[in-house]
Amino acid sequence: MKFVSAQEIFKQAGSRKGLPAWTYNNDELTRLEMEQVFLRNWIFIGHVSDLPNSGDYQCFAMADERAVVVRDQDGQLRAFHNVCRHRASRVVGDDKGHCGKAFICPFHGWSYNLDGSLKNIPKTDAFPEIDKSQFGLKSLDCEVWQGMIFIRFGGEGPAVAELFAEAAEEIGLYRIEEMQPLDKPYQYNFDLDWKAVLDIDNEGYHVPVGHPELFDLVGASYTDQPLEGGLNRSVGVINQRKHRLERNRDYVAALPQDSYLPESHQNLWIYWGLFPGFVLTLFPDQIEIYQIYPTGNQKSVMAGVTYALPDKRAEMQKARELNRDINMDVGNEDIRLVQWAAEGMRSSAFDEVLLSDLELGIGSFQNRLREVLPVVTLDQEPEVGSLQEENERLQSQASVAAVG
Ligand code: FES
Ligand SMILES: [Fe+2]
Repeated sequence: MKFVSAQEIFKQAGSRKGLPAWTYNNDELTRLEMEQVFLRNWIFIGHVSDLPNSGDYQCFAMADERAVVVRDQDGQLRAFHNVCRHRASRVVGDDKGHCGKAFICPFHGWSYNLDGSLKNIPKTDAFPEIDKSQFGLKSLDCEVWQGMIFIRFGGEGPAVAELFAEAAEEIGLYRIEEMQPLDKPYQYNFDLDWKAVLDIDNEGYHVPVGHPELFDLVGASYTDQPLEGGLNRSVGVINQRKHRLERNRDYVAALPQDSYLPESHQNLWIYWGLFPGFVLTLFPDQIEIYQIYPTGNQKSVMAGVTYALPDKRAEMQKARELNRDINMDVGNEDIRLVQWAAEGMRSSAFDEVLLSDLELGIGSFQNRLREVLPVVTLDQEPEVGSLQEENERLQSQASVAAVG
């Protein structure tokens, strides 16, 4: 794996100031982030075991777009726009469910096969003759990688497998495709910009002070390692120190000795981050996947879910329970800190941030964002109504410079 140094990251950023405060509270920018960042990159939908049977479906919506992922009759996972070809109703209204052998639009009853093709139009004689093959549901990119399902609304970037290429060997150790859901999915709704939530996740500098209990578990071993290809890896070793807290001692002791993982990975907590807001956490006892994304100006979501290999051993059950408790506390600590930092950035007292070498993950994430949306490099907030235009101007300037 080729890691990038803090020096390289901040050199590319041009400073250690981070993004200007206005970028954390701007309606037009949020809209552009949804359309040009999230809707053009891969979005995690779930695990193959979440949709085990043909006809099982799962939806996702962002900005004006709505998607449905379904397992078809051949067992293949497919993604479509959840938009009826008649008059645009959703063809399925629930977030998740089972539709049998076809989607039947709840408005007038047009039906679609699970491969998206149009099956039937009620009272078809009332329509002029139409070529049914032209009226299937519009498909979306869908990729299953190591048991995880991703969709993409647009954009032409690399496949998930390519993006994760450098991590594939390590992630492959965990046999994610064989896992089953562990706990119920969770969702936090924040009245904050999605970047404010993600920033805390992109750096481990806050761990010793912000998460005393997690720090007792991993100590100074915790490091952030952004990769050249754009992935971020963070890692902590859980058995290198004498733990002060009983819960941490119990957790490490409860992990079964005969793990399916190689020795190198039996005592690591690893976090793999993929731009813009996807995080895969690999624990010796389970995995957790979460995603942070915007839902509006000053509105964002962190949605997560855990999976594990079936394992009924009492010590494994105990380890999983303790892991859940530890991470629940870490999550609550993060929520409070995120809230306070975001509040402060709106205050008249706030000038700019100063990022350390230990916050290089934030620098690396922000560099990616600057490439896609150069408007975030402006110190001053663009005038209302001009942000998109301003962004296009900066984009064309950058491409001229690149050609030159
Ligand atoms: S909108 Fe779907 S059948 Fe009319
Ligand atoms: Fe944290």
